[in-house]
Amino acid sequence: MFVQRCINEECGNEFDLDERLYVCSRCGDLLDIERVGTDNRNVESLRALWRERLTSNEARDRSGVWRFREFLPFTENVDVVSLGEGNTPLYDAPRSADYCDVPSLKLKHQGNNPTGSFKDTGMTVAVTQARRLGMRLVACASTGNTAASLAAYAARARMACAILVPDGQVSEAKLAQALDYGAKVLEIEGNFDTCMRVIQELAEQSSLYLVNSINPFRIEGQKTVAFELAEQLEWQVPDHLVVPGGNLGNSSAFGKGFRELFGHGLTQKQPRISVIQAEGAAPFARFVTAQETTEGRADFVDEKHPQTLASAIKIGAPVSWKKAWRAVRETDGYVITVSEQEIADAKAMIGRDGIGCEPASATTIAGIRKLVADGLIKKDETVVAVLTGHLLKDTDYVIKYHSQTLTAPADGDEAHIRGTFANSIMRVAARPCAIESALKDLS
Ligand code: F0G
Repeated sequence: MFVQRCINEECGNEFDLDERLYVCSRCGDLLDIERVGTDNRNVESLRALWRERLTSNEARDRSGVWRFREFLPFTENVDVVSLGEGNTPLYDAPRSADYCDVPSLKLKHQGNNPTGSFKDTGMTVAVTQARRLGMRLVACASTGNTAASLAAYAARARMACAILVPDGQVSEAKLAQALDYGAKVLEIEGNFDTCMRVIQELAEQSSLYLVNSINPFRIEGQKTVAFELAEQLEWQVPDHLVVPGGNLGNSSAFGKGFRELFGHGLTQKQPRISVIQAEGAAPFARFVTAQETTEGRADFVDEKHPQTLASAIKIGAPVSWKKAWRAVRETDGYVITVSEQEIADAKAMIGRDGIGCEPASATTIAGIRKLVADGLIKKDETVVAVLTGHLLKDTDYVIKYHSQTLTAPADGDEAHIRGTFANSIMRVAARPCAIESALKDLS
């Protein structure tokens, strides 16, 4: 049996799973979904069961999320809303490894989900919960990927869907997805934090179901990525897991997933979970640094004007910072920032591995490079970076980088981002000899 439990240890209030809550109704803190009582299932039989499901044709077994349903808060006969999410590749990335100055590096590519981002692993669970609660309208605030994902899952569940996005700050590809999947897209004047605040207020008063990562069912889905990753590594978890940080749901989910795996004896340890933020949108990194210099007495201060070209993580008031902080603290992880130039170059390098990702995801490689240079990741340690979104989510950024026209806001002005690894398009005459001469460096 599972309950919703307040994460504040002094409160710890518990609620039934069918109470439509986003925060504790007693103290206002975040909620976790927790198992009540112990689960005595044997480690080897669980591993064997999960592996066996890979060969099944049943929808729940084919989902990389529901395959691990023994750790999800639903009964066995749950009617899931699934698009076959999860089961994403874990790639070796030799060029990125060289760039970070480590012998090897693995990339867990969550961009290979049905709507092209990691959000799908959480959304399948949140929308399934919406169905269990009998909801008719689901909603979210979004920098684009949550919107695209929710729109798709709502369409599968035949639910109405409303999304709030900051006006002019979401990539076209993400908006295009949400529109095609039939969501009502509302552009709001302001930034993501404005959208998040308004939708939370509305969720208190109305019957819509909010599925941002403040919703603990989202985190339940996303935590299964830790299970899948551990399984791909034959249950040997890496020394370091590195994720981008925006609203901080993903880092929270990895923290919970790895804590549960370890608690159940499915793994022998937990990875250090490190979170990388863009310099201009880094309230969490600033908080963690302040904690270190004030012996734990710092308050969390929102970033009023977050700025980054990695629009997915242009967030100044992350709702899940307490859970992410718990994950980082429990695993001795690091929280650092990277510049716009570092993100852009790291992204191009991930592309050179034949993998690619959207800008926010590239904070990981930029961050690993820095952590290695600072001696915080050792060369003999194993490292996995989580790529959160697909390369095609933001092609405008890619084309500008490769044509040396990418600029980022800087102190009220615009700073040019150098295309260090730019690969520019050549205009060539329609003659074989012209083409041959254009290709002479390649052979
Ligand atoms: N990477 C990508 C591609 C994202 O879309 C997001 C968040 C993050 C990283 C950060 O993850 O918020 O869990 O720390 N995108 C949200 C959205 C906010 O609305 O799509 P986080």
